[in-house]
Amino acid sequence: MKKTNQLYEGKAKKVFETDQPDLLIVSYKDDATAFNGLKKGTILGKGAINNRVTNHLMKLLEKQGVPTHFVEELNDRETVVRRVQIVPLEVIVRNIAAGSLSKRLGLPEGTKLKKTVLEFCYKNDELGDPMVNESHIYAMDLATKEELDTITRLSLKINEILGEYLMENHIELIDFKLEFGRLADGTIVLADEISPDTCRFWDSVTQEKLDKDRFRRDLGGVEDAYQEVLRRLLGE
Ligand code: TMP
Repeated sequence: MKKTNQLYEGKAKKVFETDQPDLLIVSYKDDATAFNGLKKGTILGKGAINNRVTNHLMKLLEKQGVPTHFVEELNDRETVVRRVQIVPLEVIVRNIAAGSLSKRLGLPEGTKLKKTVLEFCYKNDELGDPMVNESHIYAMDLATKEELDTITRLSLKINEILGEYLMENHIELIDFKLEFGRLADGTIVLADEISPDTCRFWDSVTQEKLDKDRFRRDLGGVEDAYQEVLRRLLGE
C-alpha cells in the first residue's frame, strides 16, 4: 500500500490517497483544537493513541455487526480505511448530561439522562456545526430517510456495545460524537474516529475526566489521561 497525494488536512488528521482507488490512509496528528479551532495546542502522543484506540474500538464494533471504514492499521499513526463520502452530520450520543447539553438545558454535569439523547449537527466549520433536526436534514438533502434510520440504529447500537465494554474497563461513556460515510454502493458505514478527542470518558469510580475536556478546560494532565485510556483498553 503506497500513499500518493494528500486529499485533505483536517484539525486532527490528514487523509491520503493510495495506489488503490477505494482505499485511503488516515494519519493522526498531535495537534489539538477546541471551540471550533479558537483554542490551539499540541497533545504529545495523541495521534498515536487516538489511532490505536479508534482501531481497537472499530474492530470490536465490526465483530458485533457494525460496519466501519476500518481496513488495517499500518503503524502507530496511520491506518488504511475504505474511501467513503462523509455524510455531513455529526451525530452526538449522550448518556449523562455534560458539555453543551448541560449549558443549554441547565442540567448539572453528571446528571443521568432517563433516555439516551441523540443530536445531529450540520458539519460545517464556518457555521460552527449548528444543531439540526430531522426536517432540516431532509430539507437540505444531507441524508435520506433510509440513511438517517440506519445512522440512528447504528448509533444506538454503538452506544450499547461501547458503553458495556468501557464499563468493564472502569470507564463511563458520558457522550460521544460519530460520523458516518457512504461506500460507493451507498452502504452506510461508521467512519472518522472514536477516541478521547471525540468522547467524554470518566473514570467510573472517581469520576475523573479522561478525555479532551482536560485540554478544553485547562485541567492539566492531558497526556496522562490519554495514556490511561490506552492502557485500560489495550493494556499498555
Ligand atoms: P458537546 O457537549 O461540546 O456538544 O460535545 C458532545 C460530544 O461530542 C463530546 O464527547 C465531545 C464531542 N465533540 C466532538 O467530537 N467534536 C466537536 O466538534 C464537538 C463540539 C464535540
